[in-house]
Amino acid sequence: MSTLNGTDLDKAQGHWILARMGKKVLRPGGRELTEQLVGFLGIGPGDDVAEFAPGLGHTAALTLGRHPRSYTGIELDPDVAAMLRGKLGGPGRTIVQGSASATGLPDACMDKVYGEAMLTMQADHRKQEIVREAHRILRPGGFYAIHELGLTPDTIDAAQKATVQKDLALSIRVNARPLNAPEWTELLEREGFVVKHIAMSPMRLLEMGRMVDDEGLWRTLRISLNILRHPAARRRILDMRRVFRQHSAHMNAIALVAVKQ
Ligand SMILES: C[S@@+](CC[C@H](N)C(=O)[O-])C[C@H]1O[C@@H](n2cnc3c(N)ncnc32)[C@H](O)[C@@H]1O
Repeated sequence: MSTLNGTDLDKAQGHWILARMGKKVLRPGGRELTEQLVGFLGIGPGDDVAEFAPGLGHTAALTLGRHPRSYTGIELDPDVAAMLRGKLGGPGRTIVQGSASATGLPDACMDKVYGEAMLTMQADHRKQEIVREAHRILRPGGFYAIHELGLTPDTIDAAQKATVQKDLALSIRVNARPLNAPEWTELLEREGFVVKHIAMSPMRLLEMGRMVDDEGLWRTLRISLNILRHPAARRRILDMRRVFRQHSAHMNAIALVAVKQ
């Protein structure tokens, strides 16, 4: 077993391996799709905002830079939630440790809710529960935005979809279930949202050009050195990149912004 700071590099979920190597941007569409999503949400000083699964807090920092009235992060992982409290804590800022499917927040208390790279990894019924919870905590007219892994084209057949899901699950050690654009739309609209905006970009998370865009040159160099120094992590990351490349014609990154009617 190869471990790094308690992480088993052979078994750990792919995003935590990348995080251990120093990668900050863990969502499929990278910084660019995140910035589009935050821009479209138009977060401002009058907004109560909730983020599902803030992870390392990259998008939280963008949101807090817009000075919302309040920010609440709901993160499942206790260690990550504790880290976020230390990093983001302050007046009007709350980190709840728990599942986005049952936040414990009151009905209709938020203006904007978003979550990135967190629905894809849930089973279908749990995806639905999380979207329902977003709808419950939003005020009428409030916005919900997601940024996830997509399947393409819209007409992708069931066999191809199953192959992508199986190869992804084996490689990233997460039971990832990406959906195509009509399926993501249907997931949101079934709970009472109306989709207002869809953006897509290629799934290039582990390609050098995207890494430099997302992390900057110096961090990319540091990440590359870390990967070189840890052969077990390198094997896992190269395998993930192989799968992303192999299925590049059928996978993309997708962001949707929807409004609660
Ligand atoms: C791939 S990371 C993405 C983190 C961050 N959103 C980003 O894009 O960089 C997935 C995150 O989702 C969190 N997570 C998974 N299921 C969750 C749930 N049901 N409720 C809240 N957080 C969850 C994990 O703990 C992890 O921090």
